[in-house]
Formats: sequence, C-alpha cells, structure tokens
Amino acid sequence: MSAMMLTFVALLFGIATAQCPDYLDYSTVKHYPYSGGSHNISYQRPDPACRTFNLSLLNDVVIFDVMRAVPDLDLFRLFINAYPNTLDTAVRWKGYATDSPDEELTFLVTGDIDAMWLRDSSNQMHSYLPLLTANSSADSLASLFRGVINLQARYLLTSPYCNAFQPPIESGIAPANNPSASQDVVFPTYDNTSVFECKYELDSLAAFLQISADYYNATGDINFFAKHHWIETINHVYQVFDSLYFASTYDTDGQVKQPDYSFTRMSNRATETLANDGLGNPFKGGIGLFRSAFRPSDDATIYQYLIPANMMLAHYLEATAPILLALNASSSAITSAHMTQLAAVIRQGIEEHGIVTVDGKQVYAYEVDGYGSANIMDDANIPSLLSAPLIGYLDANDEVYQNTRSLLLSDRNPYFMQGPVISAIGGPHNGPGYAWPMASIVRILTSDNDTEITEQLAMILSSTNELGLIHESINASNQTDYTRPWFSWANGLFGQMILELCDRKPHVLAQSFQ
Ligand SMILES: *[C@@H]1O[C@H](CO)[C@@H](O)[C@H](O)[C@H]1NC(C)=O
Ligand SMILES: *[C@@H]1O[C@H](CO)[C@@H](O)[C@H](O)[C@H]1NC(C)=O
Ligand SMILES: *[C@@H]1O[C@H](CO)[C@@H](O)[C@H](O)[C@H]1NC(C)=O
Ligand SMILES: *[C@@H]1O[C@H](CO)[C@@H](O)[C@H](O)[C@H]1NC(C)=O
Ligand SMILES: *[C@@H]1O[C@H](CO)[C@@H](O)[C@H](O)[C@H]1NC(C)=O
Ligand SMILES: *[C@@H]1O[C@H](CO)[C@@H](O)[C@H](O)[C@H]1NC(C)=O
Ligand SMILES: *[C@@H]1O[C@H](CO)[C@@H](O)[C@H](O)[C@H]1NC(C)=O
Ligand SMILES: *[C@@H]1O[C@H](CO)[C@@H](O)[C@H](O)[C@H]1NC(C)=O
Ligand SMILES: *[C@@H]1O[C@H](CO)[C@@H](O)[C@H](O)[C@H]1NC(C)=O
Repeated sequence: MSAMMLTFVALLFGIATAQCPDYLDYSTVKHYPYSGGSHNISYQRPDPACRTFNLSLLNDVVIFDVMRAVPDLDLFRLFINAYPNTLDTAVRWKGYATDSPDEELTFLVTGDIDAMWLRDSSNQMHSYLPLLTANSSADSLASLFRGVINLQARYLLTSPYCNAFQPPIESGIAPANNPSASQDVVFPTYDNTSVFECKYELDSLAAFLQISADYYNATGDINFFAKHHWIETINHVYQVFDSLYFASTYDTDGQVKQPDYSFTRMSNRATETLANDGLGNPFKGGIGLFRSAFRPSDDATIYQYLIPANMMLAHYLEATAPILLALNASSSAITSAHMTQLAAVIRQGIEEHGIVTVDGKQVYAYEVDGYGSANIMDDANIPSLLSAPLIGYLDANDEVYQNTRSLLLSDRNPYFMQGPVISAIGGPHNGPGYAWPMASIVRILTSDNDTEITEQLAMILSSTNELGLIHESINASNQTDYTRPWFSWANGLFGQMILELCDRKPHVLAQSFQ
C-alpha cells in the first residue's frame, strides 16, 4: 500500500491500541497520522473499539462526500475529527427504563465533565439532524434521539429549574461529584443523585422543545410522543412557564414576592452566584418576557430578561406546536394553541422591551430588566444574539439583527476579543482575552459574505493548537493557551457548519487554506 492509502486506512479504521485511554487525556496530545497541511493537524478520533456509538452513514458515506468537497488537508482533517465527536466519545450509556422496557434512554455527557446538560445534549444531537431519518432500530441515530428526549423528560419532571444531570439509575454509573455545587443553597431543593447542578437557565427548557421538534420534523414519528412521558413533561414544563409568566421581584403592592427559584453559591467569582441573597437583580414582571437566572454559559445574568433565550423559547414553542396538533387535543391539557399564543406574547415582549437605540441605531439588547436598564454585549454560547437566525427567531436580513450584528462584531461589544490568532466573541465565563471558536462558527452560519466566511474558517484552523478539535476558548494571542480540550457540542457544531457550507457555499470550501 502507498503511504497515502495507509493514511486513509488509519483515518477510517484507526490503529489498534491495547486499551481505551481516557479521552480527556487523548484529546490533549497529538496522534498520528498528521494532516499533511501547514497546520499539521493531528488525528483525534478514538480507536474504533473505543468509540461510544457507530453510525455507518457517517463513517462510510458522509466523510467521503465531504472529502470530495473539501480538498484542503487541514480543513478536511478538522471535519473528520470534529463531526463524529459526540458519537465517538460522549454516548456514556444507552439502555432502557426499568419500569418501561421499550422506553429508550441515552445518557449523553458534555465531554470532559461527566454529566448531561439539557442544552448541550440537545445541541449535540442537533448537529446530526441532516443524518436523521425515521428508524425504529435500537442501534439507529433515531434511537439515540429518542433516548435523549426520554431522559430529558425524566429530568424535567423532577427538576425543571436545573441545568445538568447525573446518570440514570439504570446505567449503574455512580453519580459524579460536583464539589463546586456541594454548598449551593437552592430553592426549590433537589436530589444530588439525579442533579449535577441546578442553575435555572431558560434555554434549558427551550432545549427540550428544540430536540423534540428536531426529532418530529425529521422523522414524523408522532407515535413516539404519545408513548412514555412526553405529554406529561410538556404539561409540566408549561406549568413552569405559567408561573414564570407571573414572576416579578415585587408584587403589585411593592412587597417582595416569594421567588419561584433562588440560588447562592460559595465562590470568588461574581458570575457563579446570584445577587440579593439568591434572588438575582430585580426584574419587573408582566412584560411578556421570561426570567433566566443564568446564561447558556452557566454564568449569572446581570439583568434577568435574557433576550436570546427568550428568542429561542418563542421559536421552539412555535416549532413544538405541530406535535401537539398531531397528538390530538384530548390527550394533552396543553394544546398547540397554547404554545403559539405564548410564543406571540414573548415575541411582542422582545420587540417592545428588548430593542434599544445605540449610536442612533436600533439593536437587540443582550439582557434587560423591564425597568429600562439594558446590557449591550453578546456571549459566545448559543443562544446568543449573533445566533438569532440560527435559533429560528428571525431572518438574517432583518434590519435590527444586522445593526446588532455589526455592533457585536466590533469593539463596541465589551466581549469581542481581538488577536493575531483569532478574533471572535468570548464572554465572562473564561474572561477577557479568550475568544470562542463557537462564535466564529455562528458568524459563518449567519453570513452570506464569502470573504468573511473564509477569514473565519482560517482563524478556526489556526486555533486548535494542532490538536484538531474545537476548543472552548483560546487566548486570542496564543493558541497553546486554551480551555476545555474535549467540548463535544462545539465539535458537532463545526461539522454541522461544514455540511451546511457544502450545500450553500461549495466554492468557499473548495479553496486552499494553506
Ligand atoms: C507534526 O507534528 C508532529 C507531532 O508534534 C511532529 O512530530 C511532526 O514533526 C510535525 N510535522 C511537521 C511537518 O511539522
Ligand atoms: C463500534 O465498532 C467497533 C468495530 O469497528 C467495535 O469494536 C465497537 O465495539 C463498536 N462500538 C459500539 C458502541 O458498538
Ligand atoms: C436503521 O438504522 C440502522 C442502524 O444505523 C441501519 O443499519 C439501517 O439501515 C437503518 N434503516 C433504515 C430504514 O434507514
Ligand atoms: C450529595 O450530597 C451529600 C450531602 O451533602 C454528600 O454527602 C454527597 O457526597 C453528595 N453526592 C454527590 C454525588 O455529590
Ligand atoms: C419540517 O420542517 C420543514 C421546513 O420547516 C417543513 O416543510 C416540514 O413539513 C416539516 N416536517 C414535519 C414532519 O413537520
Ligand atoms: C389523532 O386522531 C386521528 C383521527 O381520529 C387518528 O387517525 C390519529 O391516529 C390520532 N393521532 C394519534 C397520535 O393518536
Ligand atoms: C494571552 O497570551 C499572551 C501571549 O502569551 C499574554 O501576553 C496574555 O497575557 C494572555 N492573555 C490572557 C488574558 O491571559
Ligand atoms: C465582507 O467581509 C469582509 C471581511 O470581513 C469585509 O471587509 C467586507 O466589507 C464585507 N462585505 C460586505 C458586502 O459586507
Ligand atoms: C502561550 O501559552 C502557553 C500556555 O499557557 C505558555 O506556556 C506560553 O509561554 C505562552 N506563549 C507566549 C509567547 O507567551
């Protein structure tokens, strides 16, 4: 065999190793074969025997299609490593519920942290949406989706205000210790054998709607939603929305209301706890927006009406409505009309209270409080303002979005990081100086400008420290200084973007990035 053939064999089938290394260690060192491009990108897929889920469609078809579309050795290698990452590494357990033998469960970890986030797991699966078709087989991608939806439903039925969860009891996997949460004081209280962390983030609830709509839209499998606990969960989640709708720091007599949720943590980081002994900063109720105590970065909000999370919720309420319609009204107290009406209320709230004027132009604020204060910034994590078209809230040509976008991608955004390695939006989670490639990917997915897309692709390629995975954040001046070597969601998002560009911008992918 030629050296090139050997490389292909190694890429697709791996080189056998005696036992499976911890992927956290594996992801921080380089592995042969290298890309052969100027970025000298490592191979980073685990040995086939160590992969946590095999999808032949991806391994045998998609990778070859992309190989033809992406001649650049470095860009193609990054795709090979990144796109399968959730399937290769993050399906920690798959099985069935004890009390319901045909109820599939999938415990999907976020990567380097041994817990399942509602937001991450929905997004990790979202990146495989182009490959999803109806399939009742237990080793299908559809089964993996069903398992995530069923397990999320179980989590939401007991702890709808929490963001990250422990393995299901059926897996036999011991709950992970979370030392930073051990002294948290949270209302409502929770059980730490099922909850890993309990930060209330509005987008976690929207994430359940997202994965439900994704699965239904791709498969049309309405019978799945009639089985198990999906209807019960939607009704439960809607009750949470109902009470949140009337949430406010003060009641109409000016008295402090009993909060639906409060949280304090012992920490030296301001973003890890809530002001006012766990209430968060005051917010004025009844304006059509939903409070979020924390952001999708798991950092505390400054003003609790987080606009991107409200945008995401509005869209996914609309997207879930067809499921309820198809299920027939009598089986669920909450109907499709409830979902679309609530979405309309939120849309009105966003348009009335979420838009402010900066430098003479109307822009969406990242957060508002209903009293008139607004936070002008963006954070890399999705849902972000930059991602508003991706989360289905508006069209990328929307004028207010375009105004917002040009502000966010400039030094008028306090969290826009600039450096010789990469310039991208970051956030307080890792602090000033650290740019997030996830934000570059979102920038590409929301751009029609070939030059901009090409520049962002080049920056992403030069930001992996030759390791060939999408890192959480990178010192904008030094790619060896990065956070989270194994951040599964961002890797899937990169692959999703390459597939999207294969359709939308094939000429951009056909370029050399050397
Ligand atoms: C690529 O990286 C590997 C591992 O660090 C190194 O051994 C090799 O010399 C590099 N190749 C080139 C062409 O720089
Ligand atoms: C994936 O396939 C490999 C063989 O190519 C096998 O060794 C491994 O056990 C499979 N993984 C799963 C989760 O089935
Ligand atoms: C269902 O999924 C399995 C496992 O991925 C696959 O082998 C089979 O071809 C799929 N069936 C259909 C009809 O797509
Ligand atoms: C759960 O909380 C108890 C009591 O604080 C503690 O002893 C235990 O270690 C915690 N378990 C986990 C998995 O964190
Ligand atoms: C999925 O979404 C597309 C586009 O929005 C729509 O045309 C299609 O009917 C949807 N499919 C299902 C099963 O809802
Ligand atoms: C809804 O009702 C229609 C008409 O009675 C029926 O054909 C359909 O199967 C029902 N759908 C579900 C999911 O039960
Ligand atoms: C980023 O890296 C540069 C060069 O190594 C260093 O000077 C700077 O302090 C780093 N930034 C942060 C925020 O650590
Ligand atoms: C396209 O992007 C490039 C690079 O970011 C920028 O200089 C240019 O002005 C953009 N073109 C348009 C039409 O916005
Ligand atoms: C870049 O960051 C690494 C890791 O933090 C550090 O060891 C190195 O000194 C930095 N390089 C420069 C030029 O500052």
